[in-house]
Amino acid sequence: MNLVKRLANLGYGSRREVRHLIRSGAVTDTAGRVLGEKEIVAHEEIRVLGEALDPAAPLTLLLHKPAGYTCSADDPGAIVHELLPPRFARRQPGLHPVGRLDKDTTGLLLLTDDGQLLHRIIHPKSRCRKVYHATLDRPLAGHEAALFASGDLVLKSETRPLLPATLEILGEKEALLTLHEGRYHQVRRMFAAAGNHVVALRRVALGDLALPDELAEGDWRELAPEELDAIFAMRDIE
Ligand code: URA
Repeated sequence: MNLVKRLANLGYGSRREVRHLIRSGAVTDTAGRVLGEKEIVAHEEIRVLGEALDPAAPLTLLLHKPAGYTCSADDPGAIVHELLPPRFARRQPGLHPVGRLDKDTTGLLLLTDDGQLLHRIIHPKSRCRKVYHATLDRPLAGHEAALFASGDLVLKSETRPLLPATLEILGEKEALLTLHEGRYHQVRRMFAAAGNHVVALRRVALGDLALPDELAEGDWRELAPEELDAIFAMRDIE
């Protein structure tokens, strides 16, 4: 891919702006040699204003989503993309959230420009495990674990029962809930069906990939290849 297209696809500007940038001498190799528009140079060798290029596609990011950000531009309010460098919003292919978290839900959210990966994780057949930490308004009554595990629970305005889900009680008003599907507001609606109300919700794991302790709310980093394998680890179904 030529330099203009490559930089434009990474969000450094329109092709016109990138041509300008190149002509200004801002694009060099690691040795400081000014690059021309037609040059074919390895990604790792290119510098813009002395800085290494953003990672090439395919790119997957792991974000610790804070409350108050939506996953879709169709919803009102700030969108998770605002937590990333502005250049990332102009990348082609674009970065898309892998499944949605509600505006008030915090925790592990992936963003990827890899359509196949996105499909592989969110496709219902993938049964990819998602673990949520829920804080509840009222003490757990005792019947919730059996109800969620039954495979018989039908949520309001739905007809198909939920897949069995696992509840691990952590305290009077605190539990981990493991799901193998992702229906709209699923955790909140499950607890509502059990007569409770979720006051705080955090996704703590996707498959065997846990939300890293060192990643503060609002922070993100590139997902490592071995972390991808952890997402598809299957444990407690079948
Ligand atoms: N279930 C919910 O209710 N909300 C989320 O954000 C994710 C799962």
